[in-house]
Amino acid sequence: MNAHSRATKIRLTGIEKSFGDKVVLRGLDLEVTEGESLVVIGGSGSGKSVMLKHVIGLLKPDRGTVEVDGVDLSTLGYREITRFRRRYGMAFQEGALFDSMNVADNVSFALRRHTSLSRSEIADRIAECLRMVHLEGVEKKLPAQLSGGMRRRVGFARAIAREPQILLFDEPTTGLDPITTAQIDEVIVELRDRLNVTCLTITHDMISAQRIASRIGMLYQGKIIALAPPDEFYQLTDPRVQQFVQGSATGPLG
Ligand SMILES: Nc1ncnc2c1ncn2[C@@H]1O[C@H](COP(=O)(O)OP(=O)(O)OP(=O)(O)O)[C@@H](O)[C@H]1O
Ligand SMILES: [Mg+2]
Repeated sequence: MNAHSRATKIRLTGIEKSFGDKVVLRGLDLEVTEGESLVVIGGSGSGKSVMLKHVIGLLKPDRGTVEVDGVDLSTLGYREITRFRRRYGMAFQEGALFDSMNVADNVSFALRRHTSLSRSEIADRIAECLRMVHLEGVEKKLPAQLSGGMRRRVGFARAIAREPQILLFDEPTTGLDPITTAQIDEVIVELRDRLNVTCLTITHDMISAQRIASRIGMLYQGKIIALAPPDEFYQLTDPRVQQFVQGSATGPLG
């Protein structure tokens, strides 16, 4: 390693995971470098969300190791893993907001529980996070009063509220129209650039992947079968990659 090479932020090694008879991950290896935006694509049910749950220690592998900042998550007890998760910001599908809470309370939920900030400091932080996702002044609105794209961005604001080092996005644009999708992608790129966080995103949207990824990996039959920067990824000759990239109904993926 030379002085310019970046550290590995997340390292998954030989992850195997089954649920009953169903084998989902079959020796998955993946390294996410500090400060990069890695996107994992893969078909529905291929195990993308299961992979992400291993990264945050919500699922434990049957075999293999998950290391974050060089720490093997299996060595952490319940309290330690809870504390460790402060390094992550997670944005899940549909924003996963509390419907009965206004935007401000949703964004500041973890801040109010786990920090000793004053009310005005919290209000400032909420405003700052909403500004970063281009949603100024919606503090008092309820989730039901917002569009789907706005709700996703509130979810992003909540994810960044505690200044995480790692941002995880599970299907951030699924179900959104192309223009809203482009806006969401732009916010993800801006967050990575401004906050200098490490991003791991899973999606089945190839256009989004190309816009936000420094590298794209493809999950297939429980392994990462291809990994490359977007331009190179599109040129890969692997027929499974090509079918996914082109969205063909027929091919090796069935
Ligand atoms: N807690 C669980 N118990 C049993 N089976 C599970 C559990 N979690 C996931 N699975 C199974 O693992 C497989 C992979 O699920 P996963 O949610 O990771 O897919 P995915 O790639 O995220 O799909 P999608 O794109 O539809 O979100 C599925 O067959 C699912 O039913
Ligand atoms: Mg999923």
